[in-house]
Amino acid sequence: MPSEITIKNKISPFNKNIKVSSDKSLSIRCVLLASIAIGNSRLSNLLESEDVKSSLKIINKLGINFKKKKNIYEIEGFGLNGYNTKKEITINAGNSGTVGRLILGLCVKSKNKIKLIGDKSLSKRDFSRVTEPLKLFGANLKSKKNLLPVEILGNRFLRPINYLENKGSAQCKSTVILAALQTPGITKIKAKKSRNHTELLLKYLKIPIKINSNGEYDLIEVKGLNEIKSFDYHVPGDISSAAFFIVLTLLSKKSKIIIKKVNVNETRIGIIKILNKMNSKIILKNKKNYKGEKIADIHVKSIKSFKPINCPSKLNSSAIDEFLIIFLVAAKANGISHFKNLKELNKKESPRLNYAIKFLKMIGVKIDRKKDNIKIYGNPELSLNGNYLINNFLKDHRVFMMACTAALVFGGNWKIQDKDSINTSFPKYIDILKTLGAKIK
Ligand code: S3P
Repeated sequence: MPSEITIKNKISPFNKNIKVSSDKSLSIRCVLLASIAIGNSRLSNLLESEDVKSSLKIINKLGINFKKKKNIYEIEGFGLNGYNTKKEITINAGNSGTVGRLILGLCVKSKNKIKLIGDKSLSKRDFSRVTEPLKLFGANLKSKKNLLPVEILGNRFLRPINYLENKGSAQCKSTVILAALQTPGITKIKAKKSRNHTELLLKYLKIPIKINSNGEYDLIEVKGLNEIKSFDYHVPGDISSAAFFIVLTLLSKKSKIIIKKVNVNETRIGIIKILNKMNSKIILKNKKNYKGEKIADIHVKSIKSFKPINCPSKLNSSAIDEFLIIFLVAAKANGISHFKNLKELNKKESPRLNYAIKFLKMIGVKIDRKKDNIKIYGNPELSLNGNYLINNFLKDHRVFMMACTAALVFGGNWKIQDKDSINTSFPKYIDILKTLGAKIK
Protein backbone atom coordinates (compact mmCIF):
# COMPACT_ATOMS: atom_id res chain seq x y z
CA MET A 1 0.00 0.00 0.00
CA PRO A 2 1.60 3.35 -0.99
CA SER A 3 2.10 4.89 2.49
CA GLU A 4 -1.54 4.68 3.58
CA ILE A 5 -2.99 6.08 6.80
CA THR A 6 -6.22 5.12 8.55
CA ILE A 7 -8.51 7.50 10.47
CA LYS A 8 -11.54 6.02 12.26
CA ASN A 9 -12.28 8.62 14.92
CA LYS A 10 -13.16 12.28 15.03
CA ILE A 11 -10.63 14.38 16.90
CA SER A 12 -11.50 15.07 20.59
CA PRO A 13 -11.57 18.67 21.90
CA PHE A 14 -8.10 20.27 22.06
CA ASN A 15 -6.59 23.51 23.33
CA LYS A 16 -2.99 23.97 22.19
CA ASN A 17 -0.31 26.32 20.90
CA ILE A 18 1.46 25.03 17.80
CA LYS A 19 4.03 26.10 15.22
CA VAL A 20 3.59 25.01 11.61
CA SER A 21 6.35 24.48 9.03
CA SER A 22 8.10 27.50 7.50
CA ASP A 23 6.74 29.40 4.51
CA LYS A 24 7.42 27.50 1.27
CA SER A 25 7.18 30.48 -1.07
CA LEU A 26 9.60 32.51 1.03
CA SER A 27 12.01 29.59 1.55
CA ILE A 28 12.30 28.99 -2.20
CA ARG A 29 12.70 32.70 -2.99
CA CYS A 30 15.40 33.08 -0.30
CA VAL A 31 17.38 30.15 -1.74
CA LEU A 32 17.12 31.47 -5.30
CA LEU A 33 18.00 35.07 -4.42
CA ALA A 34 20.89 33.94 -2.20
CA SER A 35 22.21 31.96 -5.18
CA ILE A 36 22.64 35.17 -7.22
CA ALA A 37 23.75 37.43 -4.33
CA ILE A 38 27.39 38.28 -3.71
CA GLY A 39 28.81 36.49 -0.66
CA ASN A 40 27.45 34.18 2.04
CA SER A 41 23.75 34.46 2.81
CA ARG A 42 22.47 32.83 5.99
CA LEU A 43 18.97 31.39 5.99
CA SER A 44 17.49 30.14 9.25
CA ASN A 45 14.27 28.21 9.83
CA LEU A 46 14.28 27.34 6.13
CA LEU A 47 11.51 24.89 5.25
CA GLU A 48 13.11 21.45 4.97
CA SER A 49 10.69 19.97 2.48
CA GLU A 50 11.10 18.25 -0.90
CA ASP A 51 10.25 21.43 -2.84
CA VAL A 52 12.89 23.49 -1.06
CA LYS A 53 15.41 20.64 -1.35
CA SER A 54 14.78 20.69 -5.12
CA SER A 55 15.75 24.38 -5.18
CA LEU A 56 18.94 23.66 -3.20
CA LYS A 57 19.92 20.74 -5.48
CA ILE A 58 19.34 22.89 -8.57
CA ILE A 59 21.47 25.84 -7.43
CA ASN A 60 24.15 23.32 -6.53
CA LYS A 61 24.07 21.94 -10.08
CA LEU A 62 24.38 25.51 -11.31
CA GLY A 63 27.68 25.78 -9.45
CA ILE A 64 26.54 27.36 -6.16
CA ASN A 65 27.69 25.76 -2.90
CA PHE A 66 25.70 25.62 0.30
CA LYS A 67 26.25 24.08 3.70
CA LYS A 68 24.11 23.57 6.78
CA LYS A 69 25.57 24.61 10.14
CA LYS A 70 23.28 23.98 13.11
CA ASN A 71 19.94 25.35 11.95
CA ILE A 72 21.35 27.71 9.32
CA TYR A 73 21.80 27.18 5.59
CA GLU A 74 24.73 29.17 4.27
CA ILE A 75 24.64 29.79 0.53
CA GLU A 76 27.65 31.25 -1.25
CA GLY A 77 26.64 33.32 -4.27
CA PHE A 78 28.89 35.00 -6.84
CA GLY A 79 26.48 37.64 -8.11
CA LEU A 80 24.27 37.95 -11.15
CA ASN A 81 26.76 36.18 -13.43
CA GLY A 82 27.75 33.61 -10.84
CA TYR A 83 26.20 30.43 -12.23
CA ASN A 84 28.84 28.15 -13.66
CA THR A 85 27.71 25.41 -16.00
CA LYS A 86 30.58 24.11 -18.10
CA LYS A 87 28.42 21.72 -20.12
CA GLU A 88 24.81 20.92 -20.84
CA ILE A 89 23.00 19.93 -17.63
CA THR A 90 19.63 18.63 -16.51
CA ILE A 91 17.92 20.17 -13.48
CA ASN A 92 14.96 18.59 -11.68
CA ALA A 93 12.27 20.69 -9.98
CA GLY A 94 10.49 17.60 -8.60
CA ASN A 95 6.90 18.49 -7.69
CA SER A 96 7.41 22.25 -7.44
CA GLY A 97 5.84 24.65 -9.94
CA THR A 98 7.43 27.55 -8.08
CA VAL A 99 10.97 26.12 -8.33
CA GLY A 100 10.52 25.00 -11.96
CA ARG A 101 9.17 28.31 -13.16
CA LEU A 102 11.29 30.74 -11.11
CA ILE A 103 14.55 28.98 -11.92
CA LEU A 104 13.95 29.51 -15.63
CA GLY A 105 13.88 33.25 -14.91
CA LEU A 106 17.36 32.92 -13.42
CA CYS A 107 18.76 30.95 -16.39
CA VAL A 108 18.09 33.52 -19.13
CA LYS A 109 21.83 34.18 -19.49
CA SER A 110 23.04 30.59 -19.35
CA LYS A 111 25.93 29.90 -21.74
CA ASN A 112 25.07 26.21 -22.01
CA LYS A 113 21.81 24.44 -22.57
CA ILE A 114 19.87 23.58 -19.41
CA LYS A 115 17.13 20.97 -19.49
CA LEU A 116 14.41 21.29 -16.84
CA ILE A 117 12.47 18.19 -15.79
CA GLY A 118 10.04 17.38 -12.97
CA ASP A 119 7.86 14.64 -11.48
CA LYS A 120 4.65 13.19 -12.98
CA SER A 121 2.47 16.01 -11.61
CA LEU A 122 4.78 18.85 -12.68
CA SER A 123 5.13 17.24 -16.11
CA LYS A 124 1.39 17.78 -16.68
CA ARG A 125 1.55 21.53 -15.90
CA ASP A 126 1.72 24.39 -18.38
CA PHE A 127 5.09 26.09 -18.81
CA SER A 128 4.17 28.42 -21.68
CA ARG A 129 3.02 30.90 -19.04
CA VAL A 130 6.72 31.52 -18.26
CA THR A 131 8.52 30.43 -21.43
CA GLU A 132 6.60 32.98 -23.55
CA PRO A 133 7.66 36.10 -21.57
CA LEU A 134 11.21 34.74 -21.18
CA LYS A 135 11.50 34.43 -24.97
CA LEU A 136 10.66 38.15 -25.22
CA PHE A 137 13.75 38.93 -23.10
CA GLY A 138 15.79 37.14 -25.81
CA ALA A 139 16.36 33.74 -24.16
CA ASN A 140 15.92 30.60 -26.26
CA LEU A 141 13.38 28.13 -24.90
CA LYS A 142 12.03 24.90 -26.32
CA SER A 143 9.35 22.51 -25.14
CA LYS A 144 6.79 20.15 -26.65
CA LYS A 145 3.14 21.10 -26.11
CA ASN A 146 4.27 23.68 -23.51
CA LEU A 147 5.09 20.89 -21.03
CA LEU A 148 8.30 19.65 -19.42
CA PRO A 149 11.01 18.98 -20.35
CA VAL A 150 11.83 22.61 -21.16
CA GLU A 151 15.25 23.45 -22.62
CA ILE A 152 16.68 26.89 -22.06
CA LEU A 153 19.74 28.44 -23.68
CA GLY A 154 20.49 31.95 -22.48
CA ASN A 155 21.40 35.08 -24.38
CA ARG A 156 24.12 37.55 -23.40
CA PHE A 157 22.20 40.41 -25.00
CA LEU A 158 18.91 40.50 -23.14
CA ARG A 159 16.39 43.32 -23.60
CA PRO A 160 13.83 44.57 -21.04
CA ILE A 161 10.16 43.83 -21.70
CA ASN A 162 6.68 45.18 -20.98
CA TYR A 163 4.64 42.33 -19.56
CA LEU A 164 0.97 41.94 -18.65
CA GLU A 165 0.28 39.25 -16.04
CA ASN A 166 -3.46 38.60 -16.10
CA LYS A 167 -3.94 35.37 -14.13
CA GLY A 168 -3.01 36.59 -10.66
CA SER A 169 -0.04 34.19 -10.76
CA ALA A 170 2.87 35.07 -8.48
CA GLN A 171 4.98 32.43 -10.20
CA CYS A 172 4.65 34.19 -13.59
CA LYS A 173 5.24 37.63 -12.08
CA SER A 174 8.27 36.45 -10.08
CA THR A 175 9.84 34.62 -13.03
CA VAL A 176 9.73 37.82 -15.07
CA ILE A 177 11.11 39.87 -12.15
CA LEU A 178 14.04 37.46 -11.75
CA ALA A 179 14.84 37.67 -15.47
CA ALA A 180 14.58 41.48 -15.24
CA LEU A 181 17.30 41.53 -12.55
CA GLN A 182 19.80 40.28 -15.16
CA THR A 183 18.61 42.49 -18.00
CA PRO A 184 19.85 46.03 -18.74
CA GLY A 185 17.23 48.79 -18.60
CA ILE A 186 13.80 48.83 -16.99
CA THR A 187 11.33 45.96 -17.24
CA LYS A 188 7.71 47.04 -16.73
CA ILE A 189 5.13 44.61 -15.39
CA LYS A 190 1.39 45.11 -14.96
CA ALA A 191 0.37 42.20 -12.76
CA LYS A 192 -2.97 41.20 -11.29
CA LYS A 193 -2.38 41.28 -7.54
CA SER A 194 -0.84 38.08 -6.15
CA ARG A 195 1.59 37.14 -3.39
CA ASN A 196 4.33 39.77 -3.37
CA HIS A 197 7.23 38.09 -1.52
CA THR A 198 9.66 38.54 -4.41
CA GLU A 199 9.00 42.27 -4.58
CA LEU A 200 9.27 42.70 -0.78
CA LEU A 201 12.54 40.76 -0.64
CA LEU A 202 14.05 42.82 -3.44
CA LYS A 203 12.98 46.06 -1.72
CA TYR A 204 14.59 44.85 1.48
CA LEU A 205 17.73 43.98 -0.50
CA LYS A 206 17.78 47.56 -1.88
CA ILE A 207 17.29 46.57 -5.51
CA PRO A 208 15.66 49.38 -7.52
CA ILE A 209 12.07 48.18 -7.82
CA LYS A 210 9.00 50.44 -7.93
CA ILE A 211 5.54 49.13 -7.11
CA ASN A 212 2.36 51.15 -7.60
CA SER A 213 -1.04 49.75 -6.82
CA ASN A 214 -3.69 50.37 -9.47
CA GLY A 215 -7.02 48.77 -8.53
CA GLU A 216 -6.75 45.01 -8.97
CA TYR A 217 -3.28 45.37 -10.52
CA ASP A 218 0.24 46.29 -9.43
CA LEU A 219 2.46 48.29 -11.75
CA ILE A 220 6.01 47.12 -11.17
CA GLU A 221 9.25 48.51 -12.60
CA VAL A 222 12.54 46.68 -12.11
CA LYS A 223 15.87 48.21 -13.04
CA GLY A 224 18.29 45.45 -14.01
CA LEU A 225 22.00 44.73 -13.49
CA ASN A 226 22.19 45.79 -9.83
CA GLU A 227 24.08 43.29 -7.73
CA ILE A 228 22.39 41.84 -4.60
CA LYS A 229 24.44 41.82 -1.39
CA SER A 230 24.34 38.62 0.67
CA PHE A 231 21.68 38.66 3.38
CA ASP A 232 20.36 36.94 6.52
CA TYR A 233 16.77 35.78 6.72
CA HIS A 234 14.67 33.90 9.28
CA VAL A 235 11.69 32.29 7.54
CA PRO A 236 8.33 32.58 9.39
CA GLY A 237 5.51 30.00 9.41
CA ASP A 238 3.41 29.24 6.33
CA ILE A 239 -0.24 30.34 6.36
CA SER A 240 -0.96 27.71 3.70
CA SER A 241 0.06 25.05 6.23
CA ALA A 242 -1.63 26.85 9.13
CA ALA A 243 -4.84 26.79 7.04
CA PHE A 244 -5.38 23.07 7.73
CA PHE A 245 -5.26 23.67 11.50
CA ILE A 246 -7.45 26.78 11.27
CA VAL A 247 -10.22 24.75 9.61
CA LEU A 248 -9.64 21.68 11.80
CA THR A 249 -10.22 23.88 14.87
CA LEU A 250 -13.22 25.74 13.45
CA LEU A 251 -15.01 22.49 12.55
CA SER A 252 -14.07 20.53 15.72
CA LYS A 253 -16.06 20.70 18.94
CA LYS A 254 -14.97 22.88 21.91
CA SER A 255 -11.42 23.42 20.66
CA LYS A 256 -8.94 26.28 20.55
CA ILE A 257 -5.60 26.77 18.90
CA ILE A 258 -2.91 29.43 18.69
CA ILE A 259 -0.63 29.09 15.67
CA LYS A 260 2.55 30.99 16.45
CA LYS A 261 4.63 33.23 14.20
CA VAL A 262 2.90 32.83 10.86
CA ASN A 263 3.52 35.04 7.84
CA VAL A 264 0.29 37.07 7.49
CA ASN A 265 1.30 39.15 4.47
CA GLU A 266 -1.84 40.89 3.13
CA THR A 267 -1.52 38.99 -0.20
CA ARG A 268 -1.77 35.63 1.63
CA ILE A 269 -4.61 36.04 4.13
CA GLY A 270 -7.58 35.52 1.81
CA ILE A 271 -8.50 32.45 3.87
CA ILE A 272 -8.89 34.54 7.04
CA LYS A 273 -11.00 37.15 5.27
CA ILE A 274 -13.22 34.49 3.66
CA LEU A 275 -13.69 32.41 6.82
CA ASN A 276 -14.38 35.49 8.96
CA LYS A 277 -17.11 36.52 6.48
CA MET A 278 -18.55 33.04 7.15
CA ASN A 279 -18.78 33.79 10.90
CA SER A 280 -15.42 32.45 12.11
CA LYS A 281 -13.71 34.63 14.66
CA ILE A 282 -10.08 34.23 13.65
CA ILE A 283 -7.91 36.87 15.30
CA LEU A 284 -4.33 37.95 14.54
CA LYS A 285 -2.36 38.95 17.65
CA ASN A 286 1.20 39.96 18.44
CA LYS A 287 1.69 41.47 14.95
CA LYS A 288 5.26 42.34 13.96
CA ASN A 289 7.01 43.59 10.84
CA TYR A 290 9.90 41.51 9.58
CA LYS A 291 12.01 42.69 6.62
CA GLY A 292 8.91 43.84 4.73
CA GLU A 293 6.73 40.88 5.73
CA LYS A 294 4.14 40.74 8.56
CA ILE A 295 4.19 38.03 11.20
CA ALA A 296 1.50 37.26 13.79
CA ASP A 297 0.00 34.56 16.02
CA ILE A 298 -3.30 33.22 14.69
CA HIS A 299 -5.99 32.58 17.33
CA VAL A 300 -8.84 30.25 16.35
CA LYS A 301 -11.72 28.60 18.23
CA SER A 302 -14.51 26.21 17.27
CA ILE A 303 -17.62 27.75 15.73
CA LYS A 304 -21.07 26.16 15.85
CA SER A 305 -22.72 27.76 12.85
CA PHE A 306 -21.27 29.09 9.58
CA LYS A 307 -22.84 31.55 7.15
CA PRO A 308 -22.60 30.74 3.43
CA ILE A 309 -20.48 33.09 1.33
CA ASN A 310 -20.69 34.70 -2.09
CA CYS A 311 -16.91 34.76 -2.36
CA PRO A 312 -15.56 37.87 -4.13
CA SER A 313 -13.20 36.72 -6.93
CA LYS A 314 -10.78 39.47 -5.99
CA LEU A 315 -9.86 37.29 -2.99
CA ASN A 316 -9.04 34.27 -5.20
CA SER A 317 -5.32 34.88 -5.57
CA SER A 318 -4.77 35.54 -1.85
CA ALA A 319 -6.47 32.22 -0.99
CA ILE A 320 -5.41 30.22 -4.04
CA ASP A 321 -3.81 27.34 -2.12
CA GLU A 322 -6.53 27.30 0.54
CA PHE A 323 -9.74 26.73 -1.45
CA LEU A 324 -9.81 22.96 -0.87
CA ILE A 325 -9.93 23.47 2.87
CA ILE A 326 -12.30 26.48 2.65
CA PHE A 327 -14.74 24.23 0.72
CA LEU A 328 -15.03 21.99 3.81
CA VAL A 329 -16.36 24.96 5.79
CA ALA A 330 -18.78 25.81 2.96
CA ALA A 331 -19.99 22.17 3.12
CA LYS A 332 -21.01 22.77 6.74
CA ALA A 333 -22.51 26.25 6.24
CA ASN A 334 -26.13 27.16 6.68
CA GLY A 335 -26.96 27.80 2.99
CA ILE A 336 -25.45 27.92 -0.50
CA SER A 337 -21.92 29.31 -1.04
CA HIS A 338 -20.74 30.63 -4.41
CA PHE A 339 -17.12 30.59 -5.62
CA LYS A 340 -16.29 32.04 -9.02
CA ASN A 341 -13.48 32.16 -11.63
CA LEU A 342 -11.60 29.20 -10.20
CA LYS A 343 -9.84 28.24 -13.45
CA GLU A 344 -6.37 28.54 -11.87
CA LEU A 345 -7.32 25.90 -9.30
CA ASN A 346 -7.14 23.25 -12.00
CA LYS A 347 -3.56 24.33 -12.83
CA LYS A 348 -2.04 23.24 -9.51
CA GLU A 349 -0.21 20.07 -8.38
CA SER A 350 -3.43 18.29 -9.38
CA PRO A 351 -6.62 19.56 -11.07
CA ARG A 352 -7.88 20.68 -7.68
CA LEU A 353 -11.24 22.06 -8.75
CA ASN A 354 -12.17 18.71 -10.36
CA TYR A 355 -10.85 16.75 -7.39
CA ALA A 356 -12.62 18.97 -4.83
CA ILE A 357 -15.95 18.43 -6.60
CA LYS A 358 -15.38 14.66 -6.75
CA PHE A 359 -14.38 14.62 -3.08
CA LEU A 360 -17.32 16.68 -1.82
CA LYS A 361 -19.79 14.60 -3.85
CA MET A 362 -18.25 11.45 -2.38
CA ILE A 363 -19.06 12.69 1.14
CA GLY A 364 -22.61 13.58 0.12
CA VAL A 365 -22.30 17.33 -0.42
CA LYS A 366 -24.42 18.75 -3.24
CA ILE A 367 -22.46 20.87 -5.74
CA ASP A 368 -23.36 22.62 -9.00
CA ARG A 369 -20.63 23.58 -11.44
CA LYS A 370 -20.84 25.95 -14.38
CA LYS A 371 -17.45 26.25 -16.07
CA ASP A 372 -15.14 27.62 -13.36
CA ASN A 373 -17.88 28.66 -10.95
CA ILE A 374 -19.29 26.40 -8.25
CA LYS A 375 -22.15 26.42 -5.77
CA ILE A 376 -21.74 24.38 -2.60
CA TYR A 377 -24.99 23.49 -0.80
CA GLY A 378 -23.99 23.55 2.86
CA ASN A 379 -25.44 21.16 5.44
CA PRO A 380 -24.92 22.22 9.09
CA GLU A 381 -25.71 18.61 10.18
CA LEU A 382 -23.02 17.06 7.93
CA SER A 383 -21.72 13.95 9.69
CA LEU A 384 -20.26 10.79 8.14
CA ASN A 385 -20.19 7.11 9.01
CA GLY A 386 -19.34 5.35 5.72
CA ASN A 387 -16.04 3.95 4.38
CA TYR A 388 -13.91 6.31 2.31
CA LEU A 389 -10.81 5.57 0.24
CA ILE A 390 -8.70 8.46 -1.05
CA ASN A 391 -6.20 7.44 -3.74
CA ASN A 392 -4.99 8.47 -7.20
CA PHE A 393 -4.82 12.19 -6.49
CA LEU A 394 -1.45 12.76 -8.18
CA LYS A 395 0.11 12.85 -4.71
CA ASP A 396 -1.20 16.38 -4.21
CA HIS A 397 -0.20 17.29 -0.63
CA ARG A 398 -3.17 19.61 -0.17
CA VAL A 399 -5.70 16.96 -1.28
CA PHE A 400 -4.15 14.61 1.31
CA MET A 401 -4.45 17.20 4.11
CA MET A 402 -8.02 18.13 3.07
CA ALA A 403 -8.98 14.44 3.35
CA CYS A 404 -7.38 14.12 6.82
CA THR A 405 -9.26 17.21 8.00
CA ALA A 406 -12.60 15.90 6.67
CA ALA A 407 -12.01 12.54 8.38
CA LEU A 408 -11.16 14.16 11.74
CA VAL A 409 -14.13 16.56 11.82
CA PHE A 410 -16.94 14.77 9.95
CA GLY A 411 -16.25 11.17 11.08
CA GLY A 412 -16.34 7.94 9.05
CA ASN A 413 -13.81 5.23 8.37
CA TRP A 414 -11.06 6.58 6.11
CA LYS A 415 -8.10 5.15 4.27
CA ILE A 416 -5.96 7.89 2.76
CA GLN A 417 -3.03 6.95 0.53
CA ASP A 418 0.22 8.69 -0.33
CA LYS A 419 1.06 10.13 3.07
CA ASP A 420 4.50 10.97 1.63
CA SER A 421 2.88 13.77 -0.38
CA ILE A 422 3.12 16.03 2.72
CA ASN A 423 6.91 16.02 2.36
CA THR A 424 6.61 18.61 -0.42
CA SER A 425 5.29 21.35 1.88
CA PHE A 426 4.53 20.24 5.43
CA PRO A 427 6.57 17.23 6.59
CA LYS A 428 5.48 17.64 10.25
CA TYR A 429 1.74 17.69 9.48
CA ILE A 430 0.85 14.24 10.88
CA ASP A 431 3.14 14.68 13.92
CA ILE A 432 1.40 17.95 14.84
CA LEU A 433 -2.04 16.37 14.38
CA LYS A 434 -0.99 13.65 16.81
CA THR A 435 0.08 16.22 19.43
CA LEU A 436 -3.50 17.55 19.26
CA GLY A 437 -4.76 14.04 20.03
CA ALA A 438 -5.71 12.85 16.53
CA LYS A 439 -5.77 9.04 16.27
CA ILE A 440 -4.00 8.16 13.05
CA LYS A 441 -2.50 4.81 12.05
C1 S3P B 1 3.28 30.29 -5.46
C2 S3P B 1 2.30 30.83 -6.23
C3 S3P B 1 1.00 30.20 -6.46
C4 S3P B 1 0.74 29.06 -5.47
C5 S3P B 1 1.93 28.19 -5.29
C6 S3P B 1 3.11 29.00 -4.77
C7 S3P B 1 4.55 31.02 -5.32
O1 S3P B 1 0.97 29.68 -7.78
O2 S3P B 1 -0.37 28.28 -5.90
O3 S3P B 1 1.65 27.15 -4.37
O4 S3P B 1 5.34 30.72 -4.41
O5 S3P B 1 4.79 31.93 -6.12
P1 S3P B 1 0.57 30.60 -9.03
O6 S3P B 1 1.50 31.71 -9.09
O7 S3P B 1 0.66 29.72 -10.24
O8 S3P B 1 -0.84 31.03 -8.74
